[in-house]
Amino acid sequence: MQKIKGFSKLNRTEKIAWLAKHFLTSNPLDIAREFSSYMHANAELQKVFDGISENTLTNFYLPYGVAPNFVINGRTYVVPMVIEESSVVAAASAGAKFWSERGGFHAEVISTTKVGHVHFLWRGDSDKLFDFFNTELKQILIADVKHLTENMENRGGGLKDIELIDCTHLEPEYFQLKATFETVDAMGANFINSCLEEFAGCLTEEVKENKNFSGAERDVEVVMSILSNYTPDCIVKAWVECKISDLGNFEEAELNSSQFSRKFKTAINIAKQDVYRATTHNKGIFNGVDAVILATGNDFRAIEACGHAYASRNGKYESLSDCKIENGKFIFTLEIPLSVGTVGGLTKLHPLAKRSLEILGNPGAKELMKIIACVGLAQNFSAVKALVTSGIQKGHMKMHLSNILRHFGASDIEIEKAFAYFHDRTVSFSNVREFLNTYRNNNLSPEKS
Ligand code: MEV
Repeated sequence: MQKIKGFSKLNRTEKIAWLAKHFLTSNPLDIAREFSSYMHANAELQKVFDGISENTLTNFYLPYGVAPNFVINGRTYVVPMVIEESSVVAAASAGAKFWSERGGFHAEVISTTKVGHVHFLWRGDSDKLFDFFNTELKQILIADVKHLTENMENRGGGLKDIELIDCTHLEPEYFQLKATFETVDAMGANFINSCLEEFAGCLTEEVKENKNFSGAERDVEVVMSILSNYTPDCIVKAWVECKISDLGNFEEAELNSSQFSRKFKTAINIAKQDVYRATTHNKGIFNGVDAVILATGNDFRAIEACGHAYASRNGKYESLSDCKIENGKFIFTLEIPLSVGTVGGLTKLHPLAKRSLEILGNPGAKELMKIIACVGLAQNFSAVKALVTSGIQKGHMKMHLSNILRHFGASDIEIEKAFAYFHDRTVSFSNVREFLNTYRNNNLSPEKS
């Protein structure tokens, strides 16, 4: 494979030419034209997109859609979603509509604490370190980051606490400073990491200069200072509930409302117990969550990592959602950690992230947490509802058929004929190809031929 030094120093045209020459077989001019075709017509905007990452050659398009009719705590939202998987927006919209006719979604933010650590090694009598931390160091650390926390304090947040933790049972000589923060409407990663790095320097200096320590005790070895994306105390709960009889009947599956609710609850119980099902079940929740996270310029990797860690908090990986049948009521709940921001990062830089927030009524972080949790719940409801009634392929395959037809460049009339033909037939790549070949050869649908 061809290696290169100084790739980042090349301009866009040079980068594309190098890539085409060494890794692609098409004509380099065609490749350059293709990459250019995805650039934004507005050069100033293109600069914004280029600036978001490094070595940018062009833009990568994903669909931007909206799911209407999300009634959350009595207010109706249209929710922007960015996702590559067909049927996710349709499923969210269907879930939103279903529950809008049954009292809507309810959501409540339980806590908003973020956390970060200075991980360090220290060789000495831990009692002495704890004594120093409790009598002097903690206050010194708090004062030391004042210049960083002041602004956040004015916005209602800041540093909440610092703890010293002995982790020598995990790794020899290992201690942590664990700091907790409230970052209000910011996701807060930069703020937290700046505070932690300041703590690390201050800790090292203060221990070195303290006369109660001698020899190796004076040397704190900082391993790393970093926020944790695990935020089990930044939690939102969303739920829907209605009388079982209000769920209606599911005729295609020959289930009445009570049979449906029992089957639905069993599906959730399975996702509580079986890791294979739990993973797919939670993936369905993140279909909705990630799509809004992306549309609002938030960090979907952080949200996913945290959600999956949280799903394992009881010692085994399990469903994030839960279902109860109580006193004739069906109650479906999602409790999920969501550390999101509505200021800072991409949220105002990316023009469509900004527009998404406007569509949502420019929410603060807490309101956005509630919206996202409800979309995750709606997505999960629609997926499990389909699974326990008609099966998932019915809805999926409709979208899949569109994609396959598009792949084969089907005309409007061919699309119409194909949808009629595959109404009760199995959709597959080869079946659609065969259908189109037959149709194109005969100029008649196979139905008629
Ligand atoms: C597909 O992207 C998501 C589902 O598999 C979720 C689920 O099984 O609950 C439909």
